[in-house]
Amino acid sequence: MLFKHILQRLFKATLTAMSKFNVVFVLGGPGAGKGTQCQKIVEEFGYVHLSAGDLLRAERAKEGELAEMIEGHIRNGTIVPVEVTCQLLRRAMQESCKNDFLIDGFPRNEENMSGWQKEMDDKADVKFVLFFDCPEEECVKRCIKRGLTSGRTDDNEGSTRKRIVTYNTSTTKIIDHYNSLGLVRKINAAQDADKVFMKVREVFSQR
Ligand code: ADP
Ligand code: C5P
Ligand code: MG
Repeated sequence: MLFKHILQRLFKATLTAMSKFNVVFVLGGPGAGKGTQCQKIVEEFGYVHLSAGDLLRAERAKEGELAEMIEGHIRNGTIVPVEVTCQLLRRAMQESCKNDFLIDGFPRNEENMSGWQKEMDDKADVKFVLFFDCPEEECVKRCIKRGLTSGRTDDNEGSTRKRIVTYNTSTTKIIDHYNSLGLVRKINAAQDADKVFMKVREVFSQR
């Protein structure tokens, strides 16, 4: 009887583990090159790229109260409540019918992280955190340059500086937390994008 019970538990645990999503969080300052590198990882390693910022911008395009709230946060470089962002991520993961995800720009603060843990711990395994380390002034320069063509309301110097404050006060703590768990793969992002990708490739090839 006990043996049967143990077998059932083991079977259930194996099924759960098999059906869980594999997740790599991708973090770094605004303009560090997260999206650029994710695109390359998708091409070479076949992950699905989900950018929290892109999902929020798509939701903002629908207009209404939620859209206004999101736009307020985006302009100010502050963080949208996790219920909104996590639901967008979860829905996109489930709808993709795929298993391996790069989750770009999330978790950005403690609320993002605890909201994810509450909602997703039983549905996803965080394999590691890819951290693009880029000096502030390089981030600002890249965002301003991107603003010439991106049409983003936050790719100006004022919003970018605010995003850097959020990054320094909230996101770095999250990176430190995952680092203390031995999960951070830190990449020097202040070099040519192809050179950055050579380092990224090493990380993914080890897996
Ligand atoms: P993030 O998603 O981290 O905000 P992006 O990938 O959108 O950053 O890159 C920000 C801007 O900098 C884009 O215009 C991109 O073309 C450019 N960029 C990305 N990686 C590099 C790099 N290694 N060197 C110089 N410019 C880069
Ligand atoms: O990552 P990206 O630069 O596209 O994010 C743009 C903005 O989207 C952030 O500055 C923030 O206002 C919002 N965002 C958020 N929560 C996240 C990711 C992005 O509120 N986890
Ligand atoms: Mg991006």
